[in-house]
Amino acid sequence: MKVLRISAQDTYPIRQKVLVPTHELKKAKFENDDDEDVSFHLGAFKDSKLVSVASFFYERNPIFEDLHQYQLRGMATLPENQGQGLSSELLTTAFPIIKQNFCSLLWCNARESAIGYYEKVGFKKHGNEVFQIPEIGPHVLMYKQI
Ligand SMILES: CC(C)(COP(=O)(O)OP(=O)(O)OC[C@H]1O[C@@H](n2cnc3c(N)ncnc32)[C@H](O)[C@@H]1OP(=O)(O)O)[C@@H](O)C(=O)NCCC(=O)NCCS
Repeated sequence: MKVLRISAQDTYPIRQKVLVPTHELKKAKFENDDDEDVSFHLGAFKDSKLVSVASFFYERNPIFEDLHQYQLRGMATLPENQGQGLSSELLTTAFPIIKQNFCSLLWCNARESAIGYYEKVGFKKHGNEVFQIPEIGPHVLMYKQI
């Protein structure tokens, strides 16, 4: 397995298939995806095939006091490759990059179904509020100090 920096465009097929399977590909795109000043994207490859992706955005959530923060978005592993440590490896690769950018807080809107995953990789829930993201479902705010 190899982790590499990839382009936003490279993430779209896996984001679409895993995160928004009933939507068109354009729904898999995020604002600032292509702005290299505020975002970067990582991919895990197995036998040269991209199988897991994650994206990181310099984005402050005013709920947290830290001035400089990153948001994790679009975390997705192909179903047949889940549970092999790939997403965790993407995060482990991202932490020093985020630190280099003088940020030590990483937050995400976690799908309820993925809370267990985020807890395993060291994220905590911020409160217990569950909020709906339209067309996607229930989420909770989670964060990790890195
Ligand atoms: C959540 C997801 C990204 C995790 O990716 P992954 O590559 O399978 O994660 P890892 O293999 O690194 O898992 C790390 C640990 O979390 C556990 N885990 C993975 N998904 C989990 C889940 N949904 N609930 C509880 N634990 C989970 C793994 O079993 C593993 O545990 P271990 O260290 O004891 O072996 C992947 O399951 C996925 O793409 N899910 C669908 C999309 C999604 O919900 N994305 C998050 C949107 S907020």
